[in-house]
Amino acid sequence: MTTASQVRQRLIVALDLADPSRAKTLATLLAPEVGMFKVGKQLYVRAGPDIVRTIHELGGEVFLDLKFHDISNTVAAAAVEAARLGVRLFNVHAFGGPEMMRQTAAAVEKVCGEEDLRRPSVLGVTVLTSLDDSDLETLGIQGGVRAQVLRLAGMVKEAGLAGVVCSAQEASDIRRSCGDAFLLVTPGIRPAGQQAGDQKRIMTPGDAVRAGIDYIVVGRPITGADDPAGAARSVVAEMVEAAG
Ligand code: C5P
Repeated sequence: MTTASQVRQRLIVALDLADPSRAKTLATLLAPEVGMFKVGKQLYVRAGPDIVRTIHELGGEVFLDLKFHDISNTVAAAAVEAARLGVRLFNVHAFGGPEMMRQTAAAVEKVCGEEDLRRPSVLGVTVLTSLDDSDLETLGIQGGVRAQVLRLAGMVKEAGLAGVVCSAQEASDIRRSCGDAFLLVTPGIRPAGQQAGDQKRIMTPGDAVRAGIDYIVVGRPITGADDPAGAARSVVAEMVEAAG
């Protein structure tokens, strides 16, 4: 039987807030309820690496969602700093290419060995969900989003990264083509019975667990709730029920 304490390690709360003190308050409230916090560009640019250290002090893990995309050397150097910060997950754009991803994986491996650091899992971002088939065509990419997502996910795996950030719709195709050990991290999760809001391709926490997604990312349904800890507990309860 899967317990709440196992399942909550798979729940990542997106701290999409500009105000570091509000982020800290929420992290304090939620640290006993969830495994990880996603720190994205807005909060990181505002609060810097201190917010990551604060979350660690509260006992939480961090998914640093900065989506690095640059020449290989630059991304590998940023990845080394992410490893030194002690984050559990961080990501790079797969569109930076196989060499960029290989160098990043190698640089992380090297620094973790030399400095005795815990190895973060590096994720690839395939196609942003804000882009559709016609956007890709405008960018000179034929064949549509689905084919491009699968092509890039294969490239991420080949380069030696741990997994991808993907939408609920893409998860089962990627699982099939990249295998069971490949990490799938999925946002756009809405608890059963909640409004989709601006998310278009959504899934409930239970369906995400049944689909074999490793980590789900939930933002506003928890951070915007009147009782964020209670909202997190009900997401975990939905996940436990689905895990059986
Ligand atoms: O508040 P909500 O649950 O929609 O937050 C989801 C988080 O996941 C946000 O940080 C959002 O930027 C991120 N995300 C997403 N869809 C993607 C990739 C990332 O919603 N395709």
